[in-house]
Amino acid sequence: MLELSGVTKTFGGLVAVDDVSVSVGDAEIVGLIGPNGAGKTTLFNVINGIYTPDSGTVRFDGTTITGSKPNEICGHGIVRTFQIVRTFDESTVLENVLTGAVFGAEATRSIDEATDHAHRMIEFVGLDGQAETDAHELPMAQRKHVELARALACDPKLLLLDEIGSGLTPAEIDELTATIERIRDELGISVLWIEHVVEAIMGTTDRLLVLNEGSLIADGKPSAIQQNERVLEAYLGGGV
Ligand SMILES: Nc1ncnc2c1ncn2[C@@H]1O[C@H](COP(=O)(O)OP(=O)(O)OP(=O)(O)O)[C@@H](O)[C@H]1O
Ligand SMILES: [Mg+2]
Repeated sequence: MLELSGVTKTFGGLVAVDDVSVSVGDAEIVGLIGPNGAGKTTLFNVINGIYTPDSGTVRFDGTTITGSKPNEICGHGIVRTFQIVRTFDESTVLENVLTGAVFGAEATRSIDEATDHAHRMIEFVGLDGQAETDAHELPMAQRKHVELARALACDPKLLLLDEIGSGLTPAEIDELTATIERIRDELGISVLWIEHVVEAIMGTTDRLLVLNEGSLIADGKPSAIQQNERVLEAYLGGGV
């Protein structure tokens, strides 16, 4: 579904993403981990068109999307959430989610159809009863769910989640993890999921990618990644 080939992104002299080639398949949950500054968010910004890579290509469903604009990429079916939550805080939950239903991949809906779709996604993430609440009145865990519902309302084929579990309690993370599994199993959407709380994604992900200083150092099953020498060294500084 998603195929990155030799992607490099620099900022001045800093190589934030260094010759990365990875793929994500249909209905797959793939975790993306790595220490602070490894280049995870930059990779998302390349995939969803905020940055054009210095070199390399991004292909999605057989189409080259390198250099396309974020709204065009959303139209192809790639949608993301943000490391620092970006809900429209003066708007209600419904209005937030409606923007996805109106401006996402299925932009031909009538306003009534879009509203129905937004309500379905609000219910899907467990925010029923909150549709008319202003986003800023909600606690952080629920605002993250608003962002998730807004992304789902865009009808993505691939969802990019940037540390959606950070700052949540273990119980909230369990709930979130269950929702993300339902996104794959019930909606058939693939997920590429950046997370620092590695335990949160170990049991849920089909595959893990590990970035360190811009380079991909591992790609495999979570159980194999836990034993991987280069990964242990990157996280713990060697001598394991
Ligand atoms: N717009 C930018 N301009 C200059 N440098 C940047 C920019 N964005 C990111 N960087 C740098 O690129 C490197 C990778 O940053 P990035 O945000 O992708 O890391 P990350 O893996 O998401 O880290 P974290 O886990 O802390 O979120 C860092 O050294 C960062 O300072
Ligand atoms: Mg980041």
